[in-house]
Amino acid sequence: MQNLNDRLGREIDYLRISITDRCNLRCRYCMPAEGVENKNHQDILSYEDILKIVKTGIELGIKKVRITGGEPLVRLGVEDFVSKLNKLGLEDISMTSNAVLLAEKAKKLKEAGLQRINISLDTLDPQKFKEISRRDNLAKVLKGIRAALRVGLEPVKLNVVVMKGINDDEIFDFVELSRREKLSIRFIEYMPLGGEAEAEKFISSSEIKHLIQASFELLPAVSTGNGPATYFKLQGAEGTIGFISAMSEHFCSSCNRLRLTADGKFKPCLAGNQEIKISGMNKKEIEAAYKKALDLKPVCHNLNFENQKYSRNMSQIGG
Ligand code: GTP
Ligand code: 5AD
Ligand code: SF4
Repeated sequence: MQNLNDRLGREIDYLRISITDRCNLRCRYCMPAEGVENKNHQDILSYEDILKIVKTGIELGIKKVRITGGEPLVRLGVEDFVSKLNKLGLEDISMTSNAVLLAEKAKKLKEAGLQRINISLDTLDPQKFKEISRRDNLAKVLKGIRAALRVGLEPVKLNVVVMKGINDDEIFDFVELSRREKLSIRFIEYMPLGGEAEAEKFISSSEIKHLIQASFELLPAVSTGNGPATYFKLQGAEGTIGFISAMSEHFCSSCNRLRLTADGKFKPCLAGNQEIKISGMNKKEIEAAYKKALDLKPVCHNLNFENQKYSRNMSQIGG
């Protein structure tokens, strides 16, 4: 098997596949209040097209995939898509979801070959959930998390985007949750990508970590994963605590990923505006598009709250 290396020598073996730009929530940090205009159906890659792109990717060196959205579980046939992906010989098939529809789909997804799931959840308070996501769905999400644990989509990770004055008062509730439950709680730095992007709400991972360490010892820990989180745990805890510091201590020098958007573009970087069209191509052209995407991978992102000229919202990239 080959390796896919970019011009800086970073090995790219992880493809994040957005299967839809639609979402059943409207999180403030991810998209504007009026929502985002959905792409037309004819512009969205078919599952067959995606499988063709993944197959070629595997021949070139892709070993792991993550299914993202919008919200991936709103696209019909996702279970069948997972089972087809599962026949291609990948090392890791994971998903990032808001879990609103997970309680009803977890078992089938597990049987289809999904190995693990990361779930976005920023608050444990129903009213605050409604304020952040503009939808009243906390109870469904909690049921989805239970279902993921029950069927063994493990490790189950919770993605908590921490925002000052919004949910920073719940940091210790999440820390306590990691003590009681076999969950990996990941505190994520708020990025200015498509939502309200208010600089005054930003809190760095090191601030959060110091706050926790003032009360608890954080022991180093590990968790299965391909992403940039660093992990710790409380003594005797069931779960772990992770930090994702895309803004304050970026991890671009060890970047291992490429993104495929639902409308058929490779995105070399989450935060960049470069896109390479990949729809309607034959195998040779797909191979060339992979190489081009790698050539265009930047050394690093330039995300900041002052200059927000990003071509897509987070919901159209898939995180
Ligand atoms: P694991 O394989 O479980 O480690 O997953 P992951 O952390 O790669 O995936 P997930 O979709 O759960 O992403 C968690 C957070 O990390 C999200 O807020 C993403 O936007 C952010 N993130 C993921 N990949 C990148 C990246 O390449 N660059 C930056 N800046 N942030 C990223
Ligand atoms: N900043 C940081 N993380 C974000 N996510 C979505 N929007 C943002 C943002 N502006 C996270 C969600 C989801 C993951 C894919 O990306 O929490 O779990
Ligand atoms: Fe890679 Fe861009 Fe993410 Fe940095 S921001 S880790 S270069 S995808």
